[in-house]
Amino acid sequence: MLAVLLGPPGAGKGTQAGRVSDSFGIPQISTGDILRENVRTGTRLGERARAFMEKGELVPDGLIVDLIAERIEQPDAEGGFLLDGFPRTIPQAVALDDLLRQKRRTLDGVVLIDVGDEEIVQRIGGRYLCRGCGRDTNMPGLESGPGTCPHCGGELYQRDDDRPETVLRRLKVYRELTAPLVEYYEGKGLLQVVDGTGSVDEVGGRILHVLHQMQVEHVK
Ligand code: AP5
Repeated sequence: MLAVLLGPPGAGKGTQAGRVSDSFGIPQISTGDILRENVRTGTRLGERARAFMEKGELVPDGLIVDLIAERIEQPDAEGGFLLDGFPRTIPQAVALDDLLRQKRRTLDGVVLIDVGDEEIVQRIGGRYLCRGCGRDTNMPGLESGPGTCPHCGGELYQRDDDRPETVLRRLKVYRELTAPLVEYYEGKGLLQVVDGTGSVDEVGGRILHVLHQMQVEHVK
């Protein structure tokens, strides 16, 4: 399985990518997670990416493509992988096609998780992460501060780019630079749109269903 999860910020790509990764036994490759780890550990890539991420802008294509080219060469990606948050621009998608062509591989499919802006703003506004166990606790409408992690009692925090003004910027960037990928992958006959509303289990069931169908089509 070689697939892409596409969708606006907060659509549930990260949440669902973990499930897909478990179900198919393939690594989840999240450019957002890789960049945040580089920012946290203070690498050169992290230093360069930080300013873009804090403003809700995309990190330059060249940096991201190099990062992906290196990541998909790792041994755990040999049997396939799920891309979460990449590609995010047409030049990134073209670069991915080139990288896969060099490896004589092709994408099985691209799943767009469809969620409206209002729900996205609500989901991201309620997202708290734990400094202890790293889990994501969603508390929509929370006004009195996040308190402690319900799983381990650790300290909760919000991502720097989850501030309301940055979320609006991320949505605008998505519409301008990432949404054109819908047409790009539709044109290649690779796109499947999944309703991203409902419970995490419901959305997960829909995504696994279309991915299994794509895999069957690919084998035919
Ligand atoms: P990245 O980390 O990829 O951010 P994003 O796409 O904006 O993704 P999010 O993590 O906010 O959303 P998600 O769709 O993964 O949803 P999640 O599952 O977390 O990128 C961050 C930044 O890095 C970018 O802005 C950019 O600067 C840079 N970057 C990354 N990749 C790049 C690239 N390729 N090129 C250039 N720059 C790049 O869910 C969100 C919340 O909703 C969670 O709290 C979750 O619990 C909740 N939730 C999930 N599903 C449901 C549901 N069904 N019902 C209710 N709540 C739900």
